[in-house]
Amino acid sequence: MDHLSLCPLVALLLCAVLLALRNIFKILFHDKEKSTADIPPGSHGFPVIGETLQFMLSVNSGKGFYEFVRSRRIKYGSCFKTRLFGETHVFLSTTDSARAVLNNESGMFTKRYIKSIAALVGDRSLLCASQHHHKILRSRFINLFSKKSTALMVRHFDELVVDSLSGWEHRGTVVLLTDLLQITFKAMCKMLISLENEEELGSLQRDVGLVCEAMLAFPLNLPWTRFHKGIMARGRVMEVLEKIIRERRNETTSHNNSHHEDFMEQLLAVDDGSSSLSSDHSTKLTDAEIKDNILTMIIAGQDTTASALTWMVKYLGENQNVLNILIEEQTQIAKQASDKPFLELDDLTEMTYASKMVKESLRMASVVPWFPRLVLQDCEMEGYKINKGWNINIDARSIHLDPNVYSEPHKFNPSRFDEETKANSFLAFGMGGRTCLGLNMAKAMIY
Ligand code: HEM
Repeated sequence: MDHLSLCPLVALLLCAVLLALRNIFKILFHDKEKSTADIPPGSHGFPVIGETLQFMLSVNSGKGFYEFVRSRRIKYGSCFKTRLFGETHVFLSTTDSARAVLNNESGMFTKRYIKSIAALVGDRSLLCASQHHHKILRSRFINLFSKKSTALMVRHFDELVVDSLSGWEHRGTVVLLTDLLQITFKAMCKMLISLENEEELGSLQRDVGLVCEAMLAFPLNLPWTRFHKGIMARGRVMEVLEKIIRERRNETTSHNNSHHEDFMEQLLAVDDGSSSLSSDHSTKLTDAEIKDNILTMIIAGQDTTASALTWMVKYLGENQNVLNILIEEQTQIAKQASDKPFLELDDLTEMTYASKMVKESLRMASVVPWFPRLVLQDCEMEGYKINKGWNINIDARSIHLDPNVYSEPHKFNPSRFDEETKANSFLAFGMGGRTCLGLNMAKAMIY
């Protein structure tokens, strides 16, 4: 072969090498570059499934599902995009975006109806209801969280904690979260349905646990899947609640004078027992609405409160100076209330340092790390174009740990709340029309 005849071959080979290099370059660096000037940065992941696999790996890893968001926040900044379960998700972590999305004055955001979650908590749950239905339900449920029910909870919760602590000295090891999950579950069940039978509580707690696990599982309803187990467990929880409703109605018709100081009693008091749909003009709730929302409240209140308490104990264990100040305050209050067998709601108002310590624990732990919403109209956030139909998530945990929002954010310092904090920066209980319904109840339990 002469020198000239080699040229086309070399050129061809060169082209092939360049093409291969271009592809390798694309695979390696595609994720890091902004797709276009106005679309949020982020990775599309694999075709169809996007980054679902990476998300599920995170869920099942020791680091937990927030690791998926944390690592991308570091890589891309305060606004990034990903694809999960066939949908686009944008994560935002600034106080301005939190205000805009959660307060939703523009009406451009709503909570998304997720079929698999509705299958588990019920499509009449506050978590799944349409915007209109949600308003009706919320106005009905908000009345239940009265001063009276909070006072009852303070007393009962104190009793449960004292009872549990008294058993600790006879146990070699105590797994705090396990104990606290049991205490918060008992407290929620007493408040909602007056259930106190240990055996019934045990089986109900197992079933609610299966429903919670299924909420994080891949929504595949086949006999061996976690999702299927959750669906079956939901069925059993509904049966328990139906039985309670039946018994309560029987008590009423047989003029049995037994009175229960719980949410179920209040909900049934205005419910005439018909199963017609509730409407704007009526405060009546259907049985389905009552059952779905009792389950929702158990789920919303049990895990969150137990996790918050566990984190709080961890932070106190690591910060002796904070613990000392707290002990001093608590000792003072105990002296003043020495004649009372248990804590009362009024005692909580004296706990000024404890309230800041609880707030600081909630800030650092960010028990609910992000809040998802659906975008109803094309809009712009943080200088990026956000499309209608995308999911937008306010990453509360990043805001809580942002050094531009909280100085020395990783330092456990309750006294930072001596001063006013930046607007829209404390999001432990959310903000706007979806703010946690049980926030005062939760605080009363944690103090
Ligand atoms: C430390 C404990 C708790 C934390 C950190 C917490 C946090 C939250 C957050 C952040 C939201 C709003 C989510 C969003 O905007 O998407 C929420 C909603 C909710 N929480 Fe809590 N929560 C706690 C305890 C409780 C308790 C004890 C109950 C009472 C039963 C409760 C009932 C609810 C309900 C029903 C909702 C839905 C409200 C709605 O969509 O209108 N939570 N919670």
